[in-house]
Amino acid sequence: MPTAAQRIIDKIREKPDAVIGLATGSTSEPLYAALVNAYNESQNTATPLDFSNVRFFTLDEYVGLSKEHAQSYHRYLHERLFNHINARPENIRIPDGNPADMAQECRDYEAAIKRAGGVDIWIVGIGENGHIGFNEPGSAFTGETRKVKLTESTRQANRRFFDHDISKVPTHAVSVGLGTLRQHAREILLLASGQKKSEAVAAMLDEKVDQHVPATMLSTVRDRVHVFADEAALATYHARQQAGRGVAAGL
Ligand code: F6R
Repeated sequence: MPTAAQRIIDKIREKPDAVIGLATGSTSEPLYAALVNAYNESQNTATPLDFSNVRFFTLDEYVGLSKEHAQSYHRYLHERLFNHINARPENIRIPDGNPADMAQECRDYEAAIKRAGGVDIWIVGIGENGHIGFNEPGSAFTGETRKVKLTESTRQANRRFFDHDISKVPTHAVSVGLGTLRQHAREILLLASGQKKSEAVAAMLDEKVDQHVPATMLSTVRDRVHVFADEAALATYHARQQAGRGVAAGL
C-alpha cells in the first residue's frame, strides 16, 4: 500500500489544483516531513513537484491563541509544511480562532470548501476519545464548521504541547464538522499511531456506528476512507479479531 504522502503526491501530479485537507497533531508530522522531502528531492528532476495551484483547507484551530502562538495550528502548519513548499498563501485556508464574528467565520469556511468544489483528499487524525478534527464525543454526524468546547480528555491529551500545564490548554476550538467531511471529502486518509489510539481505532473499525465515538462516522462513508495505522494502534482491533475467531471456532 502506498504511504499517505505518496497518495497525496499522486493526486497532485494527476490534478495540479487538487484540494487537500490537512490535520495537525503529532501523528501527521512524519507525513509533512515526507511531503517536504519529496518536494525538495524533486526540484532538480524533470518533474518537480508543484504545490503552487494546490488549495488547502485545514481541520481546526484553537480559539484564543494568536496565529503566532507556538501551539497555534496556523503556526504548526506553516512551520512543518507551508514554509517549505511553494504553496501560495491565497490558496491556504485555516479556520481563524479569533474572528470578529465566529458564526460568520464558520459560514465563510464552509462556503469556501463548497466553492472549491469539495476536498479531494482529507487527512485526519484520531483522538484517544475517538474525536476527528475537534468533533468530540456526541458530535452530530451532520455537523458543519463551528466553535466547539474541548473535552477534558482532549485537553489532558494535548497538555504535553503546553508545558504540561492544563491551565494553558485552550478550552475551545473551531472545527470543521463531521458533516463537512461526509459531504465534501471525496477521500479521507485516517492516520493513527501508538497504543493510546488502540481503543478508538478498534471502535472505528468495528463497524458499529456510535455518536459517542465520532470516528465511527467514517463507517458511513467506508468506501472513501483509507486507514494508515501502525501495529500499536491496531493492537486492540487485532486482539478482538483473534478472540472473535476463537469464539467462532468454538474454542
Ligand atoms: C488536529 C486534530 C485532532 C488530532 C488528534 C490526534 O488537527 O484535528 O483530531 O488529529 O487529536 O492528535 P495527535 O496526532 O497529536 O495524537
